[in-house]
Parts: sequence; C-alpha cells; structure tokens
Amino acid sequence: TIVPVILAGGSGTRLWPLSREAWPKQFLKIGSNEHTLLQSTVLRARAIENAAPPVVICGDVHRFIVAEQLREICASGATIILEPHGRNTAPAAAVAALFSQQKYGEDALVFLMSADHAVADVPAFCEASRIAAQVASGGYLMVFGIKPTRAETGYGYLKRGKPLGNGAFQLERFVEKPDRERAEAFVQSDDYAWNGGLFLFRADLFLNEFSRIEGADGNRGGGSEGAAGSGPQRVASEGTVAACRQALARAVQDLDFVRLDAESFVLAPEDSIDYAVMEKTGRAALVPMDAGWDDVGSWTYLAKLPLDAAGNYQSGDVLLEDSSNVLVHAQHRLVAALGVDDLVIVETQDAVLVAHRGKVQQVRSIVARLRAEG
Ligand code: GDD
Ligand code: MG
Repeated sequence: TIVPVILAGGSGTRLWPLSREAWPKQFLKIGSNEHTLLQSTVLRARAIENAAPPVVICGDVHRFIVAEQLREICASGATIILEPHGRNTAPAAAVAALFSQQKYGEDALVFLMSADHAVADVPAFCEASRIAAQVASGGYLMVFGIKPTRAETGYGYLKRGKPLGNGAFQLERFVEKPDRERAEAFVQSDDYAWNGGLFLFRADLFLNEFSRIEGADGNRGGGSEGAAGSGPQRVASEGTVAACRQALARAVQDLDFVRLDAESFVLAPEDSIDYAVMEKTGRAALVPMDAGWDDVGSWTYLAKLPLDAAGNYQSGDVLLEDSSNVLVHAQHRLVAALGVDDLVIVETQDAVLVAHRGKVQQVRSIVARLRAEG
C-alpha cells in the first residue's frame, strides 16, 4: 500500500488577491472549471496503483472547506488531520509518517504531495510514482525531478547522481530555493532538475533520518537519554519527531477529523521538509518525471493558459487595446486596459492588483505588509 498524504496547509500568498488567507489557492478552481486544485490532487492520488484512501493535512481553520471538497468527489475513507497552527511542511511530514505507521505498519510507504499543483499527464505521473515506490521500498527517500525551464528561485534543485537502474538515480545534492545566480547555473547544467515537491518514502526510514539529523544538529537533542518526565520541555529538546509523535498520540478524533494536540505540536520547530531533511540526508534518490507538472505558484502559471496573438490572457469581463503580454483576471467588474505591456491585473471584489509581470513573485511582500499593517 502507498498512503497518499496531501499537504494543504499553505496560504498561497503569491496568488493574492485571488487566493486569500481564508480561501487559499489549493481550494480554488484554477485551470479547470470542474475541480479545485485539492480535488484534482485527490483524484490523481486515487489513480495510483495500490493507493490507500487519502490523508489530507491542513489547518484547523480550513476543515470545513476540505471536508466539503472531499465530499464533492466522494473521497470516502479519507482522513483529515488538523494542525492547530501551521508549522510548515517538516512537522506535517513527520505527522504523515507517524500516522501511516499507526494505520498501516512500521514500513508503510508514504507519498507526500502538495495540494496546489497541476499535473497534465496523469498516466506519466502514475508511472513515475510506481518507479519511486519500488526504489523507496529498497530504502531511499524519493524525490521527483522536473526538467527546469527557467531560473526559478522559489523551487528546490536536485542534482542527479549515479543511476540506480529502473530509471531512478541517486540524489547527489539538494539545494532549496537558491539565489538567482545559482539557479541560472543549475538551469544551464544538464545534471539538475527542479524538485517537484513530491516525496515518497518508507515511514520508518524517514523518521529515523529525521531524528538522526535533528540529533546531529547542535541546536537540539540536548535532552539526556532516558531522563524522567514528559513535560513540554523534554519534548522540545528532542525536536520535531518527538513533538509530532506526542501530538498524534494525544490527538482527539472529532467527527471525520483527527485534531492534533496543540500543546505538543507547537513544540515542533517551524521548518520545511526541504531544509530540515532533504538537504541533509544522504539517503535520497530521484526519479525523473515528465508529466506536465506546474506548481501554480504565482500568476506566471496563468501564462500557460490560452493567449491571444499579442500574448494576452483574459478571463472575465475584459477589454484590452493596444496591449501585449498582459494577463487580466476580472471577477466582478469590467476591466479595460489601454496601451500597456507586461502587466498582471487581477480584480476581485475587495482588492485589485496591478503588477509588472516580472515581479509577480513578490506579491508575497504585499501580503506580508497587509498582515503587518492589519
Ligand atoms: N499541512 C500543512 N501545514 N501544509 C503546508 C504547510 C503547513 O504548515 N505549509 C505549506 N503546506 C503545503 C502547501 O499548501 C503546499 O501544498 C505544500 O505544503 C508545499 O508548501 P509550499 O509553501 O508551497 O512550498 P514551496 O512551493 O515554497 O516549495 C516546495 O515546493 C516546490 C515545488 O512546488 C519545495 O518542496 C520546493 O523544493 C519545490 O521545488
Ligand atoms: Mg508551492
């Protein structure tokens, strides 16, 4: 069995203002009129051979959106694990592994996926997953390599090592979110791929690696072996895996939800799986995937949608004149633009974004300011 665990706790700030804190992008229909990104992810997971019912890990505040979206696609048997507050993907990954062990045994295979990716070619995705599962059973933490097409600084980069047979390779190096200069060098080289944000591993191996890395890390692991007591401090000294183990052991089952214990979970340091584990492990391998993958990470994604002769994309009530490379999304009003180039314009009921196309990644900083200024 492969346990698909879908991470749906992100806030998708780069798609502001379409994606809002209360309704992040994984819960939106983007590039499909039928399903939201989360629903498409669950359906994709269902297509994998030997897949168990999906597990979705998300923030407590989004529990009803998730439950409703799963119900709409009849995802019976799904489990929804609720985080009291987001601690990024490393604690979520530990919870995924611990939960899978609890339900399917020590060496259950966990397939971690993002809830907000688009994959055009599902059979190709399934084939890559099949290979990854095979190699993972032999004791590797698997990542999926996507052929890079631009020097994207928001991704992780994977350096391919020796072939393992099966079409998989040893992972020589993992570099999360490099600066532009390094990203450009990686794209030039044939040895590097983008990290597809998909991870497949045996739960026991992942947890051992995570604990080992945390233990070796001087900042943590200061607790003396076998010391008495199980108070918060002791857990803190043992790091993420211990905090998550306790958060799950003390979790409350509430309707279809598994509610992690807040006091324990908060002790897990905030970090991403990429930095906390993948950059530091020597036990990783890579399987290339050519499946029309896109992380829908920013407005540039929409440029993949049908463009007119001048390179414009229009959705909603839009009037463009003498403009090129302009992307307009109008939700509630007519939006007209005249004589402008290389812009992204997004109109929603309560906010309008006008940005240079080359700067859309920085929409995050607007969101950060909005938060700071309340
Ligand atoms: N449950 C939970 N809790 N999910 C979370 C949390 C959290 O605290 N934070 C993020 N997620 C979810 C997001 O919703 C998304 O589906 C996934 O985890 C990845 O998080 P992102 O925040 O989108 O990561 P990223 O895009 O910056 O980088 C990752 O993905 C890239 C590809 O899309 C990395 O793995 C990169 O290496 C990779 O290239
Ligand atoms: Mg992402």
